[in-house]
Amino acid sequence: MNPQRLATASRLAHIDAFHVMELAKQAAELERAGRHIIHMGIGEPDFTAAEPVVRAAEAAMRRGVTQYTGALGIMPLREAIAAHYKSAYGIDVPARRVIVTAGASGALLLACAVLVEIGAEVLMPDPSYPCNRHFVAAFDGRAKMIPSGPAERFQLTAEQVEANWHAHTRGVLLASPSNPTGTSILPDELARILAAVRARRGFAIVDEIYQGLSYDAPPVSALSLDDDVVTVNSFSKYFNMTGWRLGWLVVPDALVDAFEKVAQNLFICASAVAQHAALACFTPEALAIYDERKAEFRRRRDAIVPALESLGLHVPVKPDGAFYVYADCRGVNHRAAGDSDSLTQAMLHEAGVVMVPGQDFGPYTASDYIRISYATSMANIEEAMARLRKFFA
Ligand SMILES: Cc1ncc(COP(=O)(O)O)c(C=O)c1O
Repeated sequence: MNPQRLATASRLAHIDAFHVMELAKQAAELERAGRHIIHMGIGEPDFTAAEPVVRAAEAAMRRGVTQYTGALGIMPLREAIAAHYKSAYGIDVPARRVIVTAGASGALLLACAVLVEIGAEVLMPDPSYPCNRHFVAAFDGRAKMIPSGPAERFQLTAEQVEANWHAHTRGVLLASPSNPTGTSILPDELARILAAVRARRGFAIVDEIYQGLSYDAPPVSALSLDDDVVTVNSFSKYFNMTGWRLGWLVVPDALVDAFEKVAQNLFICASAVAQHAALACFTPEALAIYDERKAEFRRRRDAIVPALESLGLHVPVKPDGAFYVYADCRGVNHRAAGDSDSLTQAMLHEAGVVMVPGQDFGPYTASDYIRISYATSMANIEEAMARLRKFFA
């Protein structure tokens, strides 16, 4: 084998593997050996698509609507998403600006392909969803991760955006509510950030994938604050359709053609069956199911935050959305070698509970935090807390 011939592109040097995948591999090995493992690592609802959606998928397959669609998605789905913005959030979004994608991942890739100039810097908070910095790197941009702690709700502030904006900075990539912290950017702060970006003629990509899972106040979409933002969303989380690979973007009118051109080349289209099935997400029957599930996530949040606190896992900012808690583990690190990585290893091997170390989400205070996903049943949450109580004792 000639190693020169198989050399990978230099941009791979900027792309890290997921720690959580390594933990998942180890958990699978323990399960094969007969251990019972509670999974609180993965960011995936334990629910699957609602029954009306499954029926719609079956019907779509029987009708044979399984061929390519237009690159921007089928018009009835784009219209249904636009109508959902109006009914759920009171925002007018023309269907023309809605672009259906292969998940939020496809949406983020498209947005980076269209907006990230080679060598351009994109500001994002540290901690952030791990793939974000890699999406930017994939298009030869540079993610600048800005330390964001509890005082900032683990989010960027307008002040940080202004202070960190330099000649090569082209935009910001935000997520609200956020993965890994479940915290949202407060509406006034978001408005200030968007104004700062606009004043610098930059772009704002705002990932609102967890918008449907906001528990404490009606979510404020960036779309209600600025028509020029690019927002990202998905059927994966609120609609419980992770494996269907379906999401969407809302883009400024002037960019629709640019996104279409790139979408045609990168993806051709999102899954046709998933698109036809997703139409059923917006029926009253399905929305009632999803709202009940959202209420269940909220009940779990309300149970797990005090339970973690009582274990010594301090939650400095109460999560208001998504299904994650970002907990400070310094009070219990003595149980392992003193950082979140060794702690999560010990939790897995000794207590049979998977949680994710902060390292995945950026370097800033990573060894002090772990991410806990409560996308698992209340019974599993209770059992995990009982195991950890023994483990920490
Ligand atoms: C913040 C955030 N954005 C995007 C994604 C990707 O989601 P999708 O399944 O829609 O590609 C995830 C998945 O966990 C996420 O947490």
